[in-house]
Amino acid sequence: MKVLVTGGAGFIGSNFVRLTLDERPDAEVTVLDALTYAGSAASLPASDRVRLVEGNIADAEVVDDLVREADVVVHFAAESHNDNSLDNPWPFVQTNLVGTFTLLESVRRHGTRFHHISTDEVYGDLELDDPAKFTPDTPYNPSSPYSATKAGSDLLVRAWVRSFGVEATISNCSNNYGPLQHVEKFIPRQITNVLGGVRPKLYGAGLNVRDWIHVDDHNSAVWTIIDTGKIGETYLIGADGELDNKTVIEMILAGMGEPADAYDHVSDRPGHDMRYAIDASKLRTELGWEPRFRDFAAGLADTIAWYRANEPWWRAQKAAAEAKYAKLGR
Ligand code: NAD
Ligand code: DAU
Repeated sequence: MKVLVTGGAGFIGSNFVRLTLDERPDAEVTVLDALTYAGSAASLPASDRVRLVEGNIADAEVVDDLVREADVVVHFAAESHNDNSLDNPWPFVQTNLVGTFTLLESVRRHGTRFHHISTDEVYGDLELDDPAKFTPDTPYNPSSPYSATKAGSDLLVRAWVRSFGVEATISNCSNNYGPLQHVEKFIPRQITNVLGGVRPKLYGAGLNVRDWIHVDDHNSAVWTIIDTGKIGETYLIGADGELDNKTVIEMILAGMGEPADAYDHVSDRPGHDMRYAIDASKLRTELGWEPRFRDFAAGLADTIAWYRANEPWWRAQKAAAEAKYAKLGR
């Protein structure tokens, strides 16, 4: 099986490539990645079953050459960080909308199976005391330029399914954690701060809730959908991992042998979504998927250990990421 993975040099995509090599002996993987600040060839496993093509998903010629030879396209590539989208939305429009459009036109031409990776953020946010969770029927209501462009990309996929018969599925997942995540993101930022003797930074009061899932559970769900999902359907991926940010920072500090209050409150993210929560019952009941990583504390300890052991991987990103935060006052 020839698998084209866009964004395979990023966090979730590179973990997807690893899982694919481990669990799919028949798979050959081509990664199409622009190697932006968020992507790194060093995140990919060395294997003669993996080929990295450096290129942009909005480049129709490059895309078409690779789609032509693929059996399935798994589309992870995106500008993925909310804070960056608030600072400069343009790359988000270009990659998340124009890039997805370019891929859709190519899979339409070649009749190739397409799986679109999206986010729970397309649904906006929930109140802290709302008993509801996001379901596939929740209306779209994105808050940031990032989530608005992801929402737009989902709608493009739906339109290409309905109007052109493209064989696509969509998944909307909650917050991932695990190895190889860029240090701009919440959990790796705090771990690498502590490793560098810097105090973690909590936005606002830290009451915002995220629904954490291990990256390998996200990716096993993606393979389940590719294998058994129904064309045209949207599946929500989550593992019932709701925690507020303050609790997560305190867990990181405790797990690294620091006092639980050794962090700073910094200014809040504009338009900061309060709570995300996924109801994954459609994926569980219709496709029989179950998460394997049910112990967040244990997964977090493994993640801390990974960053401790892999400083050469993250050290180069750290100064640039913190320089961006300094400019934003966070
Ligand atoms: P990431 O920022 O770590 O990786 C994105 C990758 O895409 C990078 O390797 C980057 O170089 C590449 N890329 C960016 N623009 C490109 C372009 N124009 N052409 C080719 N490659 C390009 O992101 P991530 O956290 O791994 O997220 C992957 C996908 O999963 C995204 O679509 C994101 O919206 C979605 N998602 C992420 C999470 C999460 O918690 N991180 C949760 C749900 C969904
Ligand atoms: O829900 C899925 C989404 O999860 C994905 O679509 C995005 O690609 C991914 O980046 C993530 O978005 P968030 O904005 O939730 O993730 P982030 O890691 O940026 O922040 C998580 C929470 O932590 C959020 O409430 C903001 C807060 N935060 C973040 C940083 C970087 C802090 O308190 N301090 C920080 O230093």
